[in-house]
Amino acid sequence: MPLSGREQSHAIPIRRSLLQGWLAASATGISGISVGMFAPILRAQPIKRDITPSCGTDDEPTRSSTEGPFYSKQPPEKSDFRADADGDPVTLIGFVLTRDCQPVSGAIVDLWHANRDGEYDNRGFLLRGYQKTDAKGRYFFETIRPAEYGSRTPHYHVKLRNGDDRVLTTQLYFPGEARNERDFLFNPALLMDVQKASDGDIARFDFILS
Ligand SMILES: [Fe+2]
Repeated sequence: MPLSGREQSHAIPIRRSLLQGWLAASATGISGISVGMFAPILRAQPIKRDITPSCGTDDEPTRSSTEGPFYSKQPPEKSDFRADADGDPVTLIGFVLTRDCQPVSGAIVDLWHANRDGEYDNRGFLLRGYQKTDAKGRYFFETIRPAEYGSRTPHYHVKLRNGDDRVLTTQLYFPGEARNERDFLFNPALLMDVQKASDGDIARFDFILS
């Protein structure tokens, strides 16, 4: 449902939205912030007030990228990958939105990636799983940071399904990685916003479906 003019006039830009207070606190060096503290903030955030009138006028659909050779069909429904492998903790969060910035609820977000040694589990479903966005279009994975491998810079693989035949297959990247520019698949439009917390990184990416 489109936002009313009143809602829009009070809007906060969604692309700069959810973690703004948290990010600002981090940037100014306030200590004691952790991923664990972040979870209830995410759950409590009233998304509609975050939507901005400009959202949808300058946001292009998320770029697709190749699936690669390591996708496994029928992964389990899972959002916590931390028990799958040791590694530097990353909480991957964000929204799935339409081009006019409406949240997409019930979208399947399917994540798979390498471990800290740059290896995929091709026999089972370690570091593989999907979840559905909630009523406000949000997704949330607790996982680890993947390592580079071969010619590839560190990345997450994602497939999104929106309840119909449309599928977005893409990859997400970490800013500041030395190998990004040398990776032939790297696309700066697919960089996550990564911030450090006391118990790991928080990586944010909002998907815009076409
Ligand atoms: Fe990969």
